[in-house]
Amino acid sequence: MLAFVWAEDQNHLIGKAGKLPWYLPNDLQFFKDLTSYQTIVMGRKTFEGMGKRLLPNRHTIILTHDKDYEVPGAEVVTDYQDIILDAAEEDIYIVGGSQIYQLFAGDVDVLYRTVIEAEFSGDSYFPELDWEQFSLVKTIEGIVDSKNLFPHRFEMYHRMES
Ligand SMILES: NC(=O)c1ccc[n+]([C@@H]2O[C@H](COP(=O)([O-])OP(=O)(O)OC[C@H]3O[C@@H](n4cnc5c(N)ncnc54)[C@H](OP(=O)(O)O)[C@@H]3O)[C@@H](O)[C@H]2O)c1
Repeated sequence: MLAFVWAEDQNHLIGKAGKLPWYLPNDLQFFKDLTSYQTIVMGRKTFEGMGKRLLPNRHTIILTHDKDYEVPGAEVVTDYQDIILDAAEEDIYIVGGSQIYQLFAGDVDVLYRTVIEAEFSGDSYFPELDWEQFSLVKTIEGIVDSKNLFPHRFEMYHRMES
C-alpha cells in the first residue's frame, strides 16, 4: 500500500524555502501518530530542509539521483520504481515534497491530506492529481486553540476500484 501524507493551505501550498510555511502542532502530532514505526519516503530537498535530521522510530528512505549520497541511519534510493515494487509487500508513506508526490501520483492508493483553511506565502505546491479516482472516506475536524491557530481538518481518501 502506497500512501501520501501532506498538509496544504487553501491554495494547495505545501512549502516555503525548503520548510513548512506554518506551525501547526496538531498536524505534527497527526503525522507522528500515522508514520511512527513505518517506512517513510522523502525527497532529498525535504530531508535537507529538515536540517538533515531523521525523524525517530521510522525507516526513512531518501530519494535522490545522486548515487553517492549517504545518510547514516537512512536508506538512499535512486530508482523510485523500487519503492513501487516494495509497496506491493508493505505499507509505505510518501511524505513529500512536491516533486516526490508528482512521481508517485499514478500509483498512490491512500491519501492523508491535512487542509489548513488559511493562506500562506511560499514556493512549493501539491501537484496535479486525478481526484476523480479517489473517494473521501473520513474527515476529522482539527481543534483550534492557543497553539493551533488555523482552522484545519484531516481527510483520508482511498483510490476507487477501477
Ligand atoms: N506540507 C507538507 O506536507 C510537506 C511535506 C513534505 C515537504 N514539504 C515541502 O516541500 C518542499 C520540497 O519539495 P521539492 O519538490 O522542492 O523537493 P522534494 O520533492 O523534497 O525533493 C526533490 C528531490 O528529490 C529527488 N528526486 C526527484 N525526482 C527523483 C527521481 N525520479 N529519482 C530520484 N530522485 C528524485 C531529487 O534529488 P537530487 O536533486 O538530489 O537528485 C530532487 O531534487 C519543502 O518546502 C518542504 O518543506 C511539504
